[in-house]
Amino acid sequence: MSNVVPSRRTRAVAERQPSQSSQPSESSESPGKTAHQLDDSTNWWHNAVVYQIYPRSFADSNGDGVGDLGGVLERLGYLELLGVDAIWLSPVMTSPMADHGYDVSNPRDIDPLFGDLATFDALVAAAHDRDIRVTMDIVPNHTSNQHPWFAAAIASPAGSPERARYIFRDGRGVNGELPPNNWPSVFGGPAWTRVAEADGQPGQWYLHIFAAEQPDLNWDNPEVFADLERTLRFWLDRGVDGFRIDVAHGMAKPPGLPDMDLATVGLLVNDDNDLRFNNPGVHAIHRKIRAVLNDYPSAANVGEIWVDDNVAFANYIRPDELHLGFNFRLAKAEFTVDDIRAAIENSLTAVESVGGRPTWTLSNHDVEREVTRYGGERGDLSVGLNRARAMALVELALPGAVFIYNGAELGLPNVDLPDEVLQDPVWERSGHTERGRDGCRVPLPWEGAAPPFGFSSTPNTWLPTPASWASLTVEAQLEDINSTLSLYRQALELRYARSEFAGDGVEWYGAPAGCLAFRRNVGRLVCAVNTNDHPVALPPGEVLLSSAPLINGELAPNAAVWLV
Ligand code: NOJ
Repeated sequence: MSNVVPSRRTRAVAERQPSQSSQPSESSESPGKTAHQLDDSTNWWHNAVVYQIYPRSFADSNGDGVGDLGGVLERLGYLELLGVDAIWLSPVMTSPMADHGYDVSNPRDIDPLFGDLATFDALVAAAHDRDIRVTMDIVPNHTSNQHPWFAAAIASPAGSPERARYIFRDGRGVNGELPPNNWPSVFGGPAWTRVAEADGQPGQWYLHIFAAEQPDLNWDNPEVFADLERTLRFWLDRGVDGFRIDVAHGMAKPPGLPDMDLATVGLLVNDDNDLRFNNPGVHAIHRKIRAVLNDYPSAANVGEIWVDDNVAFANYIRPDELHLGFNFRLAKAEFTVDDIRAAIENSLTAVESVGGRPTWTLSNHDVEREVTRYGGERGDLSVGLNRARAMALVELALPGAVFIYNGAELGLPNVDLPDEVLQDPVWERSGHTERGRDGCRVPLPWEGAAPPFGFSSTPNTWLPTPASWASLTVEAQLEDINSTLSLYRQALELRYARSEFAGDGVEWYGAPAGCLAFRRNVGRLVCAVNTNDHPVALPPGEVLLSSAPLINGELAPNAAVWLV
């Protein structure tokens, strides 16, 4: 079965005049579209710009205050205008929504909150018509506690085949009253919950690395992979172009489930010595997943891999494992020359060792938005925005795939939400000590002067949108040549259209203190960054795009520039 999208754009293409302006085309066509060469490459993901849609927060078509697939369908024109190659949909499968879809109770259907299979099929077809590929989240480490398998496991005795699909153990202590080991949940509290047996007495414990509503599957049980294979083929046969694999460094567990060193963990924190993740058995699982994907030559998988060590990371993207590995180095880097350079060098080094492709991202639905992060402890959002714009040019100047989290292209900051609206399970599980991730998941502002800014027809959206976002709506930014949206559109268009982006490597230039400059090794595009609080002279070359207006011909503070 082939799921090749009819045609794709490539980068090494049209003759275009360099421009300093970030003015988007006035036409409703995607700006670079007519200039793009199109191809049917099975390697579309090598340099793809993938737009992450957090479906709850993107656009609401039915007025219930929660975003849905109909909303995505209605806004596809925007994504074409932005110029992305593909979308990644965070989970849309049937879910009780304990973790907003990352707790799946039926992996082969669409949750009614988001729509139905017919809407999903329509979305895939409409996206393909617009030359946009569709990838979706898949959650193989755990299911929902309302998955029929888990219901059967709870209803069955210890040692039963039903329990063998999950990780059930007897407790420690005289009466099994203590958890089987000392593992904490990533979301706070213990990673084990005790169940009541048929006689009503407390019985075994089950493992959940995340919320109690997300029991971990037992990947030593062949039934588990067989079911995942069904799921993969179900969606691939419907035409999806690949998957983002949730917790791709999870799944396998260490033999005997030994206690871990608790000094290595914190809430939502990752550490390479964390026994809950990155166990050697995970690679056999990825090889089996890849064997399925190989039946669909133009489909690609990207894995969520919170692993720092370059060699350990690279193991996930060996040729017979994942196509791409999410690399979070830029999302964690401070806006300093040392951090940015180390993130880029390590990312390139890691993938080179196995002939893989790098990936870049500044944020996602699990981390603070970059505008806020770069605003630093003083919370200076205007500095944060300038830096976020500069970093957008950095990531889009690099070889490899770039993942843009919805709203990054609008320069949205995190929102400091009041306690009473928080929904992330982290808030409850941490005993209200950790606010969780809701602040980066606030619904997108589309148009108009008041919340919810066209996101929904109801003002009662699942998270409130701040009134201060009136100037950040798509409508407000679309025709503003200085807007962040215009910067992204221009950058994406140039990235596709200009031959200067050719080459898989970068070469570093000498740069003044507080500055960073690199160049694409074949096309010779130069990207220079100024992290100082004063302007600096530009490197030689003609300016193609700048994240901030030049100041007397010099690169502004907290800005980046592309030169040819
Ligand atoms: C990683 C996802 O990105 C996150 O949102 C989710 O809570 C956990 N995995 C558990 O599925």
